[in-house]
Amino acid sequence: MAAVWPVTHERGDDGAMRVGGMELRELTSQFGTPLYVVDEQDMRGRARAFQQHFADAFAAHGTTCAVYYASKALLASRISAWMCEDGLGIDVASGGELELALRGGMPADRITLHGNNKSDAELTRALEVGVGHIVVDSLTEIQVLSDLAVSLDRIAPVLVRVTTGVHAGGHEYIATSHEDQKFGLSLATGAALTALHAVHDAPGLDLRGIHTHIGSQILSIEAFRESAERMLGLRADFAAASGVEVPEVDLGGGYAIAYTAGAEALDPSVAAREIADAVAGAVASVGGSWPAFSIEPGRAIAGPAGITLYTVGVVKEVALEDGGARQYVAVDGGMSDNPRTIMYGAEYSAELAARRSDAQPALSRVVGKHCESGDIVVRDVDLPADVARGDLLAVAATGAYGRSMASNYNAVLRPAVVAVRDGQAQVLIRRDTLEDLLSWDVAPA
Ligand SMILES: Cc1ncc(COP(=O)(O)O)c(C=O)c1O
Repeated sequence: MAAVWPVTHERGDDGAMRVGGMELRELTSQFGTPLYVVDEQDMRGRARAFQQHFADAFAAHGTTCAVYYASKALLASRISAWMCEDGLGIDVASGGELELALRGGMPADRITLHGNNKSDAELTRALEVGVGHIVVDSLTEIQVLSDLAVSLDRIAPVLVRVTTGVHAGGHEYIATSHEDQKFGLSLATGAALTALHAVHDAPGLDLRGIHTHIGSQILSIEAFRESAERMLGLRADFAAASGVEVPEVDLGGGYAIAYTAGAEALDPSVAAREIADAVAGAVASVGGSWPAFSIEPGRAIAGPAGITLYTVGVVKEVALEDGGARQYVAVDGGMSDNPRTIMYGAEYSAELAARRSDAQPALSRVVGKHCESGDIVVRDVDLPADVARGDLLAVAATGAYGRSMASNYNAVLRPAVVAVRDGQAQVLIRRDTLEDLLSWDVAPA
């Protein structure tokens, strides 16, 4: 069973929650709500744990495993700087993420650029700054990238994104390696092999290896094992056909975290050992040399380190058909700062953050302030029956895919992201202002 609150989370005698040595109600009096809070020690500890465990587990087999933080989970230039300092690389999925990663000082050669539909401008920028890998996702892109590389007189280091057919992960929209979805080149139909030949033969491209990402929130080591076996099989098939053993294999991200008390998470030390052992078995069965490996965890680094703080507004009791009742607790944010509940049916934990309550627990639903009945932050949670307007509510494990997926729906202002550590707070991303919002609008003359 994994903890849902950040490692430095504690409660005072009066029930006030602290993270990173900061009392949360003090943080919100300084920065307002909603507010994303990141426990720096927790996030960086997780990054270093992945780095260390995977390096050690693969070193035991005589090879390497690099860790690229999947920045789509949560990115600010300071986060890029943390990852850089902690020895990780970064995976980016757009030109914007690339600029933020570079701004944080991440060396370009430790950046991997992803995307199923990268623009010419994004590919050009990646070539100009010299990213470490560009993951090609289609035959069209191989041609486009080759033309651009030749015209810029650059050599593009390329990984081919492979659809292995392993279906893993929680919701359909976060499983990414089954056949009927938009990413990658299919192993089963031979498209991946064709792409490997195309990259190998194309001018301006340096075929570095193969990449796959099978999905997110994966608890099953079996899925990673299956995926690694299929990838090594493809590598062997290409070697047999071309005489070239690609030097690198990236196995993507997807390591599950706990969102609710009692839920399981994938422990990086266990995952590292078991995946390395599975890979060893696959290398032994297909033969050939060991490639260098890499992985791309995102959620498992940022998710558990983050919480979201809201101020409670309206509390309403609604009668249920079965004769019971549900307490609807409306907060000052919602689907604009956390769309995962409405998108994926995600579950979360929530607790009062500034006081203790001895009131009876009441079946509750935490909802936002948007004009949608689906605007739910936490579908089912027991909160004290005396929860009231003005209370501070904390939702756990919101560090990943919260701020990075946030919107201005209903013209609300996206919250700030504040990192806390050793009693100090540092703004990573400032809150939108009304001036920002009005400045995006082109007013009538
Ligand atoms: C290519 C790639 N790598 C890594 C990740 C990170 O996944 P997770 O945050 O579940 O570890 C994603 C998520 O969508 C992805 O698409």
